[in-house]
Amino acid sequence: MAKDTLTITDNRTGKSYEIPVTDGTIRAMDLRQIKTSNDDFGLMSYDPAFVNTASCRSAVTFIDGDKGILRYRGYPIEQLAEQSTFLEVAYLTVKGELPAPSHLNAFVRNITLHTIIHENITKFIDGFHYDAHPMGILVSTVAALSTFYPDAKKIFDAESRKLQTHRLIAKMPTLAAFAYRHSVGMPYAYPDNDLSYTGNFLNMMLKRTELKYRPNPVLERALDVLFILHADHEQNCSANAMRSVGSSHVDPYSAVAAATAALYGPLHGGANEQAVRMLAEIGSVQNVAGYIKRVKAGETRLQGFGHRIYKNYDPRAKIIKQIADEVFAVTGKSPLIDIALELERIALQDEYFISHRLYPNVDFYSGIIYQAMGFPLDMFPVLFAIGRTPGWIAQWQEMLLDPETRIARPRQVYVGSQRRDYVPVAKRSDDTTAAA
Ligand code: ACO
Repeated sequence: MAKDTLTITDNRTGKSYEIPVTDGTIRAMDLRQIKTSNDDFGLMSYDPAFVNTASCRSAVTFIDGDKGILRYRGYPIEQLAEQSTFLEVAYLTVKGELPAPSHLNAFVRNITLHTIIHENITKFIDGFHYDAHPMGILVSTVAALSTFYPDAKKIFDAESRKLQTHRLIAKMPTLAAFAYRHSVGMPYAYPDNDLSYTGNFLNMMLKRTELKYRPNPVLERALDVLFILHADHEQNCSANAMRSVGSSHVDPYSAVAAATAALYGPLHGGANEQAVRMLAEIGSVQNVAGYIKRVKAGETRLQGFGHRIYKNYDPRAKIIKQIADEVFAVTGKSPLIDIALELERIALQDEYFISHRLYPNVDFYSGIIYQAMGFPLDMFPVLFAIGRTPGWIAQWQEMLLDPETRIARPRQVYVGSQRRDYVPVAKRSDDTTAAA
C-alpha cells in the first residue's frame, strides 16, 4: 500500500525520518526535527522567491499554469468574463459564492453609497506635484483612508470588515480618478451614482463640461471585463504583500496600500505600461524581428511576456485579445496592435520562447486597449489596482480567519560577519572601512 509520507535519510548522520505528505506538500516545520546534534537548530528549506513554497491554504483562485486555466471560486474566468459583471465577481471573490439577485442588488447599492471620499482627501491630493505618478498618489491616499475610518482597526469584527470591504471597493475608483484629474489639472468629477460602477469610473475620469456624462456602453463593458480579469490571481506579489502586512493585524487600508505599492513595480502591475512603451519603441512591424533578436541576446525582455505560473497562454490575454476588436470598432484601431500581433506570431514559433515557455500574459494586450480608450500610460497600474481590490480583500480575510495564521516572519540564512568588536571611529583607517 502506498503511504502518504516522505522518508528522508540525512546522510550527515545516517538517520531516517518519515514526514507526512498532505495535498502534495510537506510541512517545512517537519524538517526542523532533522538535526546533526542536540544544539543544531534543525533543517530549514531555502526558497528566496517562494518558487516552490505554498504560504497558505486558499479557496479563492485556482490556476493551472501548465494548462492555462484560471478560476475564481471554481468558476472559469471565460464564463465570468462573458456573463458576469465586475461587482458580481467582487461579491463572489470576497464572499465565496455567486449572490442571489436580492443580495447582488444590496451589494451594488452598498458599494454605490460609498463612492464619495471625504473632502479632506482632495486637499492632500492637491498637495502632490503636478506630474506625480497617479499610482504614487493612490498608494498614499488609500493608506490615508485608515485615518478617516479608525473603526477599521476592528479586523475581527465581521460587520466592520464588511463595511471596510464596501468602502474599499467603492472608493478605489474615486481615488484613482481624482489622482488622474489632479495630474492633468482638471477639476475633480464627483461620483454619479446613477451610473454603473465602471460607468461612474469613466465619468469621474473623463467628464468635462457636459451636465451628465454618458459612458459608451461598449467601452464601459470592455473595462468592466478588464476589471473582472484582474480581480484575483492567487499568491502573486501584491496578494502576498496584502497577507504579509495584514498578518501584523494592521487595518485593511494600510494593507491595501502595501499591496498597491507591490503592484506599482514594473515586474508586476507596471508591466502593461512597459509593454506599450516597448511596442511604441519598436515602432513598426518591420522592426519586430530585430527587436526579438535583441531579446534573445539578453539585451532586453519582451514586456508582457512570461509568467512565474503560466507556462502556457495566459487565459486572460486570450479574452483581452477578443475585446480589443470591439474596443477598436469604437475608438479606431491602435497602430500598436499590428506590432503586438506580429511580435506574438514570431515569438510563438521561435525556439527561445518555446524552450523558455514564454507566452503573452495579461499585460501584453491590456495596455493597448487602455491606451485606445484614452487612458494615459501611468494610469494602467491604477486600473489594475481597482480590479484587484476584491482579490486583496478576499486574500486578507481568508488569512485573518485561518486558525493557522501567525504574523508572517520568514527565516534567513545568515551569511554576514561573525562576532567582532567595535572599533572607535578615530582608530579606523580608510582601507579597512567601506566607502560611504
Ligand atoms: N523576455 C525574454 N526572456 C524572458 C522573459 C521575457 N519577458 N521572461 C523570462 N525570460 C527568460 C529569462 O531570461 C530566463 O532565461 P534563462 O533561464 O535563460 O536565464 C527565464 O526566462 C526565466 O526567467 P525568470 O526571470 O527567472 O522568470 P520569473 O518567473 O522569475 O519571472 C516574470 C517572471 C517577472 C513575469 C518575467 O517573465 C518577466 O520579467 N516578464 C516581463 C515582465 C512582465 O510581463 N511582467 C508581468 C507579469 S504578469 C503580472 O504581474 C500581471
